[in-house]
Amino acid sequence: MKVPFNDLSRVNVPLSREIAAAVDRVVRSGAYILGEEVDAFEGEFARFALSRFSVGVASGTDAITLSLWACGLRPGDAVVVPALTANPTVVAIDRAGGVPLFADVDPETYLMTAATVNVALREQCDQAGARMRSGGHPVRFLLPVHLYGAPCAMDALCELAAERGLTVIEDAAQAHGASWGGRPVGTWGKAGCFSFYPTKNLGALGDGGAVVTDDPGIVERLRLQRFYGQRNRVRQDALGLNSRLDEIQAAILRVKLPRVEAWNRERVRLADKYRAALPARYPVQALPEGGKPVHHLFVIRAPERASLRQGLAARGIETGVHYEVAANRHPIRAATSPACPVSERLAGEVVSLPLYPGMRADGQDEVIAALLE
Ligand SMILES: Cc1ncc(COP(=O)(O)O)c(C=O)c1O
Repeated sequence: MKVPFNDLSRVNVPLSREIAAAVDRVVRSGAYILGEEVDAFEGEFARFALSRFSVGVASGTDAITLSLWACGLRPGDAVVVPALTANPTVVAIDRAGGVPLFADVDPETYLMTAATVNVALREQCDQAGARMRSGGHPVRFLLPVHLYGAPCAMDALCELAAERGLTVIEDAAQAHGASWGGRPVGTWGKAGCFSFYPTKNLGALGDGGAVVTDDPGIVERLRLQRFYGQRNRVRQDALGLNSRLDEIQAAILRVKLPRVEAWNRERVRLADKYRAALPARYPVQALPEGGKPVHHLFVIRAPERASLRQGLAARGIETGVHYEVAANRHPIRAATSPACPVSERLAGEVVSLPLYPGMRADGQDEVIAALLE
Protein backbone atom coordinates (compact mmCIF):
# COMPACT_ATOMS: atom_id res chain seq x y z
CA MET A 1 0.00 0.00 0.00
CA LYS A 2 1.25 3.51 -0.83
CA VAL A 3 1.42 5.87 2.13
CA PRO A 4 2.52 9.37 1.06
CA PHE A 5 4.46 11.53 3.48
CA ASN A 6 1.86 14.25 3.00
CA ASP A 7 -1.11 14.78 0.71
CA LEU A 8 -2.22 18.40 0.60
CA SER A 9 -5.09 17.57 -1.73
CA ARG A 10 -6.85 15.93 1.26
CA VAL A 11 -7.52 19.33 2.83
CA ASN A 12 -7.58 21.53 -0.26
CA VAL A 13 -9.75 19.57 -2.70
CA PRO A 14 -12.85 19.51 -0.43
CA LEU A 15 -12.51 23.32 -0.28
CA SER A 16 -11.91 23.82 -3.99
CA ARG A 17 -15.27 25.51 -4.68
CA GLU A 18 -14.84 27.91 -1.78
CA ILE A 19 -11.26 28.58 -2.81
CA ALA A 20 -12.31 29.19 -6.41
CA ALA A 21 -15.00 31.62 -5.22
CA ALA A 22 -12.45 33.46 -3.08
CA VAL A 23 -10.03 33.75 -6.00
CA ASP A 24 -12.87 34.91 -8.25
CA ARG A 25 -13.77 37.61 -5.71
CA VAL A 26 -10.19 38.92 -5.90
CA VAL A 27 -10.11 38.79 -9.70
CA ARG A 28 -13.33 40.80 -9.89
CA SER A 29 -12.15 43.34 -7.29
CA GLY A 30 -9.38 44.60 -9.57
CA ALA A 31 -7.14 45.06 -6.47
CA TYR A 32 -4.39 42.46 -6.13
CA ILE A 33 -1.88 43.84 -3.64
CA LEU A 34 -2.59 45.02 -0.06
CA GLY A 35 -6.33 45.37 -0.46
CA GLU A 36 -9.40 44.28 1.46
CA GLU A 37 -8.54 40.57 1.64
CA VAL A 38 -5.18 41.13 3.35
CA ASP A 39 -6.81 43.66 5.66
CA ALA A 40 -9.57 41.23 6.63
CA PHE A 41 -7.21 38.27 6.97
CA GLU A 42 -4.89 40.26 9.24
CA GLY A 43 -7.79 40.92 11.61
CA GLU A 44 -8.96 37.31 11.52
CA PHE A 45 -5.47 35.87 12.02
CA ALA A 46 -4.82 38.23 14.96
CA ARG A 47 -8.04 36.97 16.58
CA PHE A 48 -7.02 33.35 15.95
CA ALA A 49 -3.59 33.99 17.52
CA LEU A 50 -5.09 35.97 20.44
CA SER A 51 -2.89 38.88 19.52
CA ARG A 52 -3.80 42.56 19.03
CA PHE A 53 -2.40 42.82 15.51
CA SER A 54 -1.10 40.79 12.62
CA VAL A 55 0.76 41.96 9.53
CA GLY A 56 0.77 39.82 6.37
CA VAL A 57 4.10 39.40 4.58
CA ALA A 58 5.47 37.30 1.73
CA SER A 59 6.87 34.34 3.72
CA GLY A 60 7.81 33.02 7.13
CA THR A 61 11.44 33.86 6.39
CA ASP A 62 10.52 37.49 5.72
CA ALA A 63 8.33 37.54 8.84
CA ILE A 64 11.49 36.85 10.90
CA THR A 65 13.74 39.29 9.00
CA LEU A 66 11.18 42.10 9.20
CA SER A 67 10.44 41.41 12.89
CA LEU A 68 14.14 41.66 13.73
CA TRP A 69 14.31 45.02 11.95
CA ALA A 70 11.06 46.25 13.46
CA CYS A 71 12.35 45.34 16.94
CA GLY A 72 15.51 47.36 16.41
CA LEU A 73 18.18 44.93 15.20
CA ARG A 74 21.40 46.74 14.33
CA PRO A 75 23.88 45.22 11.86
CA GLY A 76 26.08 42.72 13.68
CA ASP A 77 23.71 42.08 16.61
CA ALA A 78 23.82 38.46 17.74
CA VAL A 79 20.57 36.48 17.80
CA VAL A 80 20.40 33.35 19.98
CA VAL A 81 18.78 30.59 17.92
CA PRO A 82 18.52 26.80 18.29
CA ALA A 83 20.84 24.74 16.11
CA LEU A 84 18.04 22.28 15.36
CA THR A 85 15.67 24.26 13.19
CA ALA A 86 14.61 24.72 9.60
CA ASN A 87 17.52 26.58 8.03
CA PRO A 88 15.28 29.51 6.92
CA THR A 89 15.23 30.65 10.56
CA VAL A 90 18.93 31.39 10.21
CA VAL A 91 18.65 32.65 6.62
CA ALA A 92 16.27 35.29 8.00
CA ILE A 93 18.82 36.36 10.63
CA ASP A 94 21.56 36.61 7.96
CA ARG A 95 19.29 38.65 5.74
CA ALA A 96 18.43 41.03 8.56
CA GLY A 97 22.15 41.68 9.12
CA GLY A 98 22.27 39.77 12.40
CA VAL A 99 24.71 37.06 13.50
CA PRO A 100 23.36 33.72 14.73
CA LEU A 101 24.54 32.53 18.14
CA PHE A 102 23.66 28.84 18.23
CA ALA A 103 22.21 27.24 21.34
CA ASP A 104 21.84 23.48 21.53
CA VAL A 105 18.46 21.82 22.14
CA ASP A 106 17.13 19.57 24.86
CA PRO A 107 17.76 15.88 24.02
CA GLU A 108 14.19 14.83 24.88
CA THR A 109 12.02 17.70 23.59
CA TYR A 110 14.40 18.73 20.75
CA LEU A 111 13.66 22.35 21.72
CA MET A 112 15.67 25.32 22.91
CA THR A 113 15.28 25.74 26.70
CA ALA A 114 16.46 28.29 29.26
CA ALA A 115 19.11 25.71 30.27
CA THR A 116 20.49 25.29 26.73
CA VAL A 117 20.51 29.06 26.20
CA ASN A 118 22.37 29.59 29.48
CA VAL A 119 25.05 27.13 28.39
CA ALA A 120 25.39 28.86 25.01
CA LEU A 121 25.69 32.30 26.61
CA ARG A 122 28.20 31.05 29.18
CA GLU A 123 30.36 29.31 26.59
CA GLN A 124 30.18 31.84 23.78
CA CYS A 125 29.89 35.26 25.40
CA ASP A 126 32.19 37.48 27.41
CA GLN A 127 31.02 38.96 30.69
CA ALA A 128 29.45 41.95 29.00
CA GLY A 129 27.18 39.61 27.07
CA ALA A 130 28.89 39.99 23.70
CA ARG A 131 29.45 37.07 21.37
CA MET A 132 33.11 36.13 21.56
CA ARG A 133 33.58 34.68 18.09
CA SER A 134 33.86 36.98 15.09
CA GLY A 135 34.52 40.03 17.21
CA GLY A 136 32.20 40.81 20.06
CA HIS A 137 28.76 41.16 18.54
CA PRO A 138 26.29 42.36 21.18
CA VAL A 139 23.76 39.66 22.03
CA ARG A 140 20.38 41.37 21.77
CA PHE A 141 17.77 38.85 20.59
CA LEU A 142 16.42 35.44 21.56
CA LEU A 143 14.65 33.51 18.81
CA PRO A 144 13.00 30.32 20.12
CA VAL A 145 11.59 27.93 17.51
CA HIS A 146 8.46 25.92 18.30
CA LEU A 147 9.85 22.99 16.38
CA TYR A 148 7.55 20.37 14.82
CA GLY A 149 4.58 22.24 16.36
CA ALA A 150 5.76 21.70 19.96
CA PRO A 151 5.81 24.83 22.11
CA CYS A 152 9.00 25.87 23.86
CA ALA A 153 8.79 26.49 27.64
CA MET A 154 8.24 30.20 27.10
CA ASP A 155 7.89 31.38 30.71
CA ALA A 156 11.45 30.32 31.56
CA LEU A 157 12.83 31.64 28.25
CA CYS A 158 11.11 35.02 28.71
CA GLU A 159 12.40 35.27 32.27
CA LEU A 160 15.94 34.59 31.10
CA ALA A 161 15.55 37.09 28.25
CA ALA A 162 14.36 39.77 30.68
CA GLU A 163 17.35 39.13 32.98
CA ARG A 164 19.76 39.40 30.04
CA GLY A 165 18.05 42.29 28.28
CA LEU A 166 17.22 40.20 25.19
CA THR A 167 14.24 40.87 22.93
CA VAL A 168 12.24 37.70 22.25
CA ILE A 169 10.96 37.01 18.75
CA GLU A 170 9.26 33.64 18.28
CA ASP A 171 9.54 31.44 15.21
CA ALA A 172 6.06 29.89 15.20
CA ALA A 173 6.24 28.89 11.52
CA GLN A 174 5.34 25.30 12.43
CA ALA A 175 3.01 25.97 15.33
CA HIS A 176 -0.24 27.76 14.38
CA GLY A 177 -2.61 27.17 17.31
CA ALA A 178 -0.05 25.73 19.76
CA SER A 179 0.17 27.24 23.23
CA TRP A 180 2.36 27.25 26.32
CA GLY A 181 0.78 27.72 29.76
CA GLY A 182 -2.55 28.42 28.07
CA ARG A 183 -1.09 31.33 26.06
CA PRO A 184 -0.70 30.94 22.29
CA VAL A 185 2.78 30.75 20.84
CA GLY A 186 3.68 33.93 19.01
CA THR A 187 2.24 36.10 21.80
CA TRP A 188 4.97 35.53 24.39
CA GLY A 189 7.63 37.60 22.67
CA LYS A 190 7.63 41.08 21.14
CA ALA A 191 6.67 39.50 17.82
CA GLY A 192 5.61 36.04 16.62
CA CYS A 193 6.43 34.85 13.12
CA PHE A 194 4.27 32.48 11.07
CA SER A 195 4.69 30.81 7.67
CA PHE A 196 1.83 29.89 5.36
CA TYR A 197 3.95 27.66 3.12
CA PRO A 198 1.50 25.07 1.72
CA THR A 199 2.50 22.23 4.08
CA LYS A 200 2.15 24.29 7.25
CA ASN A 201 -0.75 23.77 9.71
CA LEU A 202 -2.32 26.79 8.01
CA GLY A 203 -1.03 26.67 4.44
CA ALA A 204 -1.70 28.93 1.46
CA LEU A 205 -1.57 27.68 -2.13
CA GLY A 206 1.74 29.46 -2.51
CA ASP A 207 4.02 31.42 -0.21
CA GLY A 208 2.90 33.68 2.60
CA GLY A 209 3.65 34.68 6.17
CA ALA A 210 2.54 36.92 9.02
CA VAL A 211 3.84 38.58 12.16
CA VAL A 212 1.66 38.91 15.25
CA THR A 213 2.33 41.52 17.90
CA ASP A 214 0.57 43.62 20.54
CA ASP A 215 2.78 46.63 19.84
CA PRO A 216 1.38 49.29 17.47
CA GLY A 217 4.88 50.70 16.89
CA ILE A 218 6.06 47.33 15.57
CA VAL A 219 2.99 47.14 13.33
CA GLU A 220 3.77 50.56 11.89
CA ARG A 221 7.37 49.62 11.17
CA LEU A 222 6.39 46.24 9.64
CA ARG A 223 3.91 47.95 7.31
CA LEU A 224 6.64 50.34 6.22
CA GLN A 225 9.25 47.64 5.79
CA ARG A 226 7.12 45.23 3.78
CA PHE A 227 6.56 48.04 1.26
CA TYR A 228 10.15 49.03 0.30
CA GLY A 229 10.50 51.01 3.54
CA GLN A 230 8.09 53.54 2.08
CA ARG A 231 5.07 55.07 3.76
CA ASN A 232 3.71 55.92 0.34
CA ARG A 233 4.73 55.63 -3.31
CA VAL A 234 7.01 58.67 -3.09
CA ARG A 235 9.41 58.58 -0.12
CA GLN A 236 11.54 55.88 1.51
CA ASP A 237 11.87 56.27 5.29
CA ALA A 238 13.41 52.95 6.39
CA LEU A 239 15.14 49.79 5.22
CA GLY A 240 12.61 47.65 3.47
CA LEU A 241 11.77 44.74 1.21
CA ASN A 242 9.05 43.96 -1.25
CA SER A 243 7.34 41.49 1.08
CA ARG A 244 3.58 41.53 0.82
CA LEU A 245 1.04 38.81 1.35
CA ASP A 246 -0.88 38.56 -1.97
CA GLU A 247 -4.59 39.33 -2.04
CA ILE A 248 -5.25 35.93 -3.63
CA GLN A 249 -3.35 34.05 -0.92
CA ALA A 250 -5.06 36.10 1.80
CA ALA A 251 -8.47 35.24 0.32
CA ILE A 252 -7.54 31.52 0.28
CA LEU A 253 -6.19 31.68 3.83
CA ARG A 254 -9.52 33.19 4.95
CA VAL A 255 -11.26 30.05 3.65
CA LYS A 256 -8.84 27.78 5.48
CA LEU A 257 -8.34 29.62 8.81
CA PRO A 258 -11.69 28.57 10.37
CA ARG A 259 -10.69 24.93 9.79
CA VAL A 260 -7.25 25.01 11.42
CA GLU A 261 -8.42 24.04 14.89
CA ALA A 262 -10.22 20.94 13.58
CA TRP A 263 -7.18 20.00 11.47
CA ASN A 264 -4.97 20.45 14.53
CA ARG A 265 -7.26 18.17 16.56
CA GLU A 266 -6.88 15.57 13.84
CA ARG A 267 -3.09 15.93 13.97
CA VAL A 268 -3.19 15.42 17.76
CA ARG A 269 -5.35 12.29 17.36
CA LEU A 270 -2.95 10.82 14.78
CA ALA A 271 0.07 11.68 16.96
CA ASP A 272 -1.53 10.11 20.05
CA LYS A 273 -2.14 6.92 18.09
CA TYR A 274 1.52 6.78 16.97
CA ARG A 275 2.69 7.42 20.53
CA ALA A 276 0.55 4.64 21.96
CA ALA A 277 1.53 2.10 19.30
CA LEU A 278 5.20 2.62 18.47
CA PRO A 279 7.81 0.34 20.02
CA ALA A 280 10.27 1.80 22.54
CA ARG A 281 13.19 1.32 20.15
CA TYR A 282 11.95 4.39 18.26
CA PRO A 283 11.95 7.24 20.81
CA VAL A 284 9.54 10.07 20.00
CA GLN A 285 9.80 13.80 20.74
CA ALA A 286 8.92 14.33 24.44
CA LEU A 287 6.30 17.00 24.96
CA PRO A 288 7.13 19.54 27.62
CA GLU A 289 4.48 19.57 30.36
CA GLY A 290 2.38 22.73 30.23
CA GLY A 291 2.30 22.93 26.46
CA LYS A 292 -0.33 22.22 23.84
CA PRO A 293 1.38 20.97 20.68
CA VAL A 294 -0.11 20.95 17.18
CA HIS A 295 2.08 18.24 15.60
CA HIS A 296 3.21 19.91 12.42
CA LEU A 297 5.52 16.91 12.11
CA PHE A 298 5.71 13.59 13.94
CA VAL A 299 9.36 12.81 14.52
CA ILE A 300 10.98 9.64 15.83
CA ARG A 301 14.64 8.80 16.31
CA ALA A 302 16.33 5.91 14.58
CA PRO A 303 20.12 5.51 14.75
CA GLU A 304 19.87 3.22 11.68
CA ARG A 305 17.94 5.85 9.79
CA ALA A 306 18.96 5.03 6.23
CA SER A 307 18.03 1.36 6.48
CA LEU A 308 14.77 2.11 8.30
CA ARG A 309 13.73 4.59 5.60
CA GLN A 310 14.73 2.18 2.86
CA GLY A 311 12.66 -0.60 4.42
CA LEU A 312 9.63 1.67 4.77
CA ALA A 313 10.05 2.97 1.21
CA ALA A 314 10.12 -0.64 -0.05
CA ARG A 315 6.66 -1.05 1.53
CA GLY A 316 5.46 2.15 -0.15
CA ILE A 317 5.75 4.34 2.96
CA GLU A 318 7.30 7.76 2.41
CA THR A 319 9.14 9.48 5.25
CA GLY A 320 10.97 12.78 5.67
CA VAL A 321 13.99 14.11 7.57
CA HIS A 322 13.75 17.41 9.44
CA TYR A 323 16.61 18.26 9.42
CA GLU A 324 19.52 16.36 7.97
CA VAL A 325 22.02 19.12 8.75
CA ALA A 326 21.97 21.05 12.03
CA ALA A 327 21.84 24.77 11.26
CA ASN A 328 25.31 25.38 12.75
CA ARG A 329 26.81 22.78 10.40
CA HIS A 330 25.78 24.21 7.03
CA PRO A 331 28.90 24.84 4.96
CA ILE A 332 28.24 28.58 4.81
CA ARG A 333 28.75 28.93 8.57
CA ALA A 334 30.27 25.68 9.88
CA ALA A 335 33.77 27.14 10.24
CA THR A 336 32.64 29.97 12.51
CA SER A 337 29.98 28.12 14.54
CA PRO A 338 30.51 26.16 17.75
CA ALA A 339 29.50 22.52 18.13
CA CYS A 340 25.97 21.76 19.30
CA PRO A 341 26.30 18.03 20.00
CA VAL A 342 22.66 17.23 20.77
CA SER A 343 21.33 19.00 17.67
CA GLU A 344 23.99 17.38 15.52
CA ARG A 345 23.23 13.91 16.88
CA LEU A 346 19.49 14.45 16.35
CA ALA A 347 20.14 15.63 12.78
CA GLY A 348 21.68 12.22 12.17
CA GLU A 349 18.78 10.25 13.66
CA VAL A 350 15.44 12.01 13.16
CA VAL A 351 12.81 10.58 10.84
CA SER A 352 9.45 12.23 10.19
CA LEU A 353 6.51 9.84 9.76
CA PRO A 354 3.47 10.59 7.60
CA LEU A 355 0.97 12.71 9.56
CA TYR A 356 -1.49 15.14 7.99
CA PRO A 357 -5.19 16.02 8.21
CA GLY A 358 -7.16 13.65 6.03
CA MET A 359 -4.63 10.83 6.44
CA ARG A 360 -6.37 7.49 6.02
CA ALA A 361 -6.54 5.24 9.09
CA ASP A 362 -5.35 2.21 7.10
CA GLY A 363 -2.33 4.25 5.95
CA GLN A 364 -1.37 4.99 9.55
CA ASP A 365 -1.99 1.35 10.53
CA GLU A 366 0.40 0.32 7.75
CA VAL A 367 3.13 2.66 9.09
CA ILE A 368 2.65 1.32 12.62
CA ALA A 369 2.66 -2.31 11.45
CA ALA A 370 5.89 -1.71 9.52
CA LEU A 371 7.58 -0.15 12.57
CA LEU A 372 6.44 -2.98 14.84
CA GLU A 373 8.10 -5.61 12.65
C1 LIG B 1 10.75 26.70 11.66
C2 LIG B 1 10.64 27.46 10.38
N1 LIG B 1 11.05 28.73 10.33
C3 LIG B 1 10.95 29.48 9.21
C4 LIG B 1 10.45 28.94 8.06
C5 LIG B 1 10.37 29.78 6.82
O1 LIG B 1 9.08 29.92 6.31
P1 LIG B 1 8.87 30.16 4.74
O2 LIG B 1 9.17 28.89 4.03
O3 LIG B 1 7.43 30.57 4.64
O4 LIG B 1 9.77 31.27 4.35
C6 LIG B 1 10.02 27.61 8.05
C7 LIG B 1 9.46 26.96 6.84
O5 LIG B 1 10.10 26.64 5.91
C8 LIG B 1 10.12 26.84 9.23
O6 LIG B 1 9.73 25.56 9.27
